[in-house]
Amino acid sequence: MDVQKAYVLSNDITIPSVGFGTWQIPDGKTAYDATLMAFKHGYRHIDTAAAYGNEPSVGRAIRDAKIPRSEIFVTSKLHAQKKGYQITLDEFQETLDRLGTDYLDLYLIHAPKPWGESGDGSEYHARNIESWKAMIELYHQGKIRAIGVSNFLPMHLDPLIEATSFIPHVNQIYLCPGAPQNDSVAYARAHNILIEAYSPFATGRLFQVELIHELARRIHRSPAQIAMRWSLQKGHLPLPKSVNELRIKENIDVFDFELSESDMAILDILDVPPKVRNA
Ligand SMILES: NC(=O)c1ccc[n+]([C@@H]2O[C@H](COP(=O)([O-])OP(=O)(O)OC[C@H]3O[C@@H](n4cnc5c(N)ncnc54)[C@H](OP(=O)(O)O)[C@@H]3O)[C@@H](O)[C@H]2O)c1
Repeated sequence: MDVQKAYVLSNDITIPSVGFGTWQIPDGKTAYDATLMAFKHGYRHIDTAAAYGNEPSVGRAIRDAKIPRSEIFVTSKLHAQKKGYQITLDEFQETLDRLGTDYLDLYLIHAPKPWGESGDGSEYHARNIESWKAMIELYHQGKIRAIGVSNFLPMHLDPLIEATSFIPHVNQIYLCPGAPQNDSVAYARAHNILIEAYSPFATGRLFQVELIHELARRIHRSPAQIAMRWSLQKGHLPLPKSVNELRIKENIDVFDFELSESDMAILDILDVPPKVRNA
């Protein structure tokens, strides 16, 4: 099965099908070097967030990369704790200033409710709608090329769409072997929303599973490459993170092999240790 090197969003914007994840990469030399290594090995899509604290170094690497800005797809996210119309406009400008760019390719509401809060997030529907209206405004002003959400379930998406008739271009969710997120994927397909698969290696826990190592030995690829390929063959956009140059390279070197349907099915139900927290 062929996989695409780029997808086209519902507004006809092209987005590279692998994005470089930057959560837990400290601001400063580590984030700067890792982002430049990603460019060196062919990534043209960088995923950061206000909450990651590394926008300044990621932005500096983008400017120093000697690649036209128009050839790099830059995503950032509105902090989960910041919700509302004006605060979203202000936060967006701060993100642009930290990144040192004058537009974003993609801006996401990081989570439906502030981190650390219990509840299903429904008490934040109204404030998410206000943030969403601000993002639509920025989109219409041409300051963001695509807008979306992250960690949103169908129950969080419905109110946004009902209130504004504007369907997010992207939903970025936790999705990896063993966690195929069938309900969110079905909703996304029905609404022409691209799914970005964050934590494609379950933040590293995937490598504790012996079965993926067995599969890797059998088909002569690495466990990480198998996880990447599984995500791409499903039509998702995986966001692998690494600070190690060999791994950064390995994680995007996934366009020359194919997983069989039976191996895909094994990965769907892989028993990966559960995650403990969100980013
Ligand atoms: N929207 C959200 O709420 C949210 C939440 C989580 C993540 N994300 C996004 O998704 C990105 C990726 O998710 P993640 O950071 O949770 O982690 P991940 O990409 O699933 O896994 C990263 C871990 O795997 C290791 N690793 C990477 N490549 C490897 C390889 N080829 N072989 C062996 N180990 C490898 C990394 O270590 P080394 O760095 O040492 O290589 C790191 O410990 C984030 O960086 C972020 O951009 C978004």
